[in-house]
Amino acid sequence: MLKGLIFDLDGVITDSASYHLAAWNQLAQEIGITLPPEANDALRGRSRMDSLNVILQYGDQVGKYSQAELDELAERKNKAYRQSIKAMTRADVLPGMLDLLQEAQQQGLRLAIASASKNAPTILHNLQLEDYFPDIVDPETLKHGKPDPEIFIAAQNLLGLNADEVISFEDASTGVAAIKAAHQFAVGIGDAQVLHQADYIVPDTAALHLDDAEAAYHHQLQ
Ligand code: G6P
Ligand code: MG
Repeated sequence: MLKGLIFDLDGVITDSASYHLAAWNQLAQEIGITLPPEANDALRGRSRMDSLNVILQYGDQVGKYSQAELDELAERKNKAYRQSIKAMTRADVLPGMLDLLQEAQQQGLRLAIASASKNAPTILHNLQLEDYFPDIVDPETLKHGKPDPEIFIAAQNLLGLNADEVISFEDASTGVAAIKAAHQFAVGIGDAQVLHQADYIVPDTAALHLDDAEAAYHHQLQ
């Protein structure tokens, strides 16, 4: 029986994924790296340091920097990113998501956030969504980033639920892989080819309706 919903934040609740990408692109250019189009998906869902490593790989610069320099680069990106999320308001919740959250609450479903972002609490505050999400996985407590299932298992545990009692929502292929490794039902939001591992896929949040996702979940349980 469905009892809870687990959400990635960036690219699912709000379009902060594009701000992450813009800040990474800026940093990459500063250090002489041009990111290829596939970086768009490759960077989604990865922790700050994992993302920096992916960027250095694209530029063939792995091993070039000391740990202190890596920390400085990551911090520089985070400053630019924090600047861009400052102006976020309720209006920045992606189309359809507020209705979906309200409907889920009316159905008595428990809600949790599974985001690798240390900025998730700031964003939820700016979007005025804190009341919906008493349960947010603290990324500081995690050992492994997505696609490892750890964060989705942690979210399920916060809700006190089993894997087959939740639906999890993701916009990144690494995130969908993490959900499937946690044996949960995965809803992918984005390109169907990129997110092919998901159990149910919609092109964007405007096309996402809770009853359709629930029907797909129930169908799979049978
Ligand atoms: C999320 C985003 C990633 C981001 C990561 C860490 O998973 O999808 O793009 O790198 O969080 O975010 P942070 O705000 O802590 O740098
Ligand atoms: Mg995401």
